[in-house]
Amino acid sequence: MTTDNGGDVRLSGISKTYGSFTAVHPLDLTVPEGSFFALLGASGCGKTTTLRMIAGLEEPSSGTVFLGDQEVTHLPPYKRPVNTVFQSYALFPHLDIFENVAFGLRRRGIKSVKKQVEDMLELVQLGEQARKKPHQLSGGQQQRVAVARALINHPKVLLLDEPLGALDLKLRRQMQLELKRIQTEVGITFVHVTHDQEEAMTMADTVAVMNAGRVEQLGAPADLYENPQTTFVANFLGTSNLIEAAVDGKDGDDIVLAAGGGKLVLPQARCSAPTTTGGKVLVGVRPEKISLTHIDDAGEIPGGRNRITGRIADSSFIGVSTQYVIDSAVCPEFEVYSQNIDRDARLTPGAEVVLHWSPAHTFGLDAAQDIDAGVETVEEEAA
Ligand SMILES: Nc1ncnc2c1ncn2[C@@H]1O[C@H](COP(=O)(O)OP(=O)(O)OP(=O)(O)O)[C@@H](O)[C@H]1O
Ligand SMILES: [Mg+2]
Repeated sequence: MTTDNGGDVRLSGISKTYGSFTAVHPLDLTVPEGSFFALLGASGCGKTTTLRMIAGLEEPSSGTVFLGDQEVTHLPPYKRPVNTVFQSYALFPHLDIFENVAFGLRRRGIKSVKKQVEDMLELVQLGEQARKKPHQLSGGQQQRVAVARALINHPKVLLLDEPLGALDLKLRRQMQLELKRIQTEVGITFVHVTHDQEEAMTMADTVAVMNAGRVEQLGAPADLYENPQTTFVANFLGTSNLIEAAVDGKDGDDIVLAAGGGKLVLPQARCSAPTTTGGKVLVGVRPEKISLTHIDDAGEIPGGRNRITGRIADSSFIGVSTQYVIDSAVCPEFEVYSQNIDRDARLTPGAEVVLHWSPAHTFGLDAAQDIDAGVETVEEEAA
């Protein structure tokens, strides 16, 4: 073992082209040591290619890869202090679980493996299963063996490429928490590739959202969700209502905008777009930030809130909340999620309503972008 503790990953200007096609555009990325880092994006956006360049399985077309203080750009995979867990974890079918995990140690000529293997099986909670063969385990258990088999080599960085992709939803959720616990316990850097935004947000300290070979935005899950900087991130991570509005003027720290004959207020600090008067801005608000009031009670809405009128087009009761789709002049399919506390029986399809929310929950994006970026991709995934 080396004594330096620079277990982070630093990518500087790395790119990958295949002929005339650019899979990854020059990319700068620093993964903090000991963090759980997720690369999130739709199919084909370059996640696996990026991961393979870190592992040494793919030669970058440009740029450098550092692992800690060591430049590894031209080192073969087996000389890099990383291990990879793939979606198809390919355990050795003829070896039992103990021997599958011991494999890396035995290959390096280490004789006394018992303690290390037992500790590792304990870590992934498979101590009881040591003498079973892989086919006698569930998918989630097999995946944990794959993680143990990689971790026993004490990599500085564990790379995971859609490791939960083959599992059903319930098991996936369990394994997400399990992997997070394991990462916290061993304290090494995990770089986890997924196309599932919920998975990335549940597990990672930092998420890099990739789109067409570029990182669109990088940050803590809550920060990405609350402060998307592009329409792609706003639409790909959860749901956003985006309204085209024109800048009307300033009011202290706020921008006042005109949309569909009404006024909306947006804190300047939450706007990533230029705000010259008359210019266009996309005003964004998340569905759970919005309250619905029947038009007859509109007088009871406190002042100082952003408001829009509309008509309920659709509502679905899903237990903890009711999800409404509202038709309004400024946004054809406004989504509103209401927690089920006291339900107003009048809020059914056809009802005229006022949607209102705090200006503080409003964000602003550059209107030069495609308002629907990131929308189709999510629907295709779900299909
Ligand atoms: N060897 C190759 N030759 C040509 N094109 C490739 C090669 N490997 C990958 N690509 C292309 O590069 C792009 C990025 O591929 P990559 O495997 O990194 O995507 P991904 O984000 O991991 O997608 P997925 O979620 O489907 O696994 C894709 O358009 C893919 O077709
Ligand atoms: Mg992939």
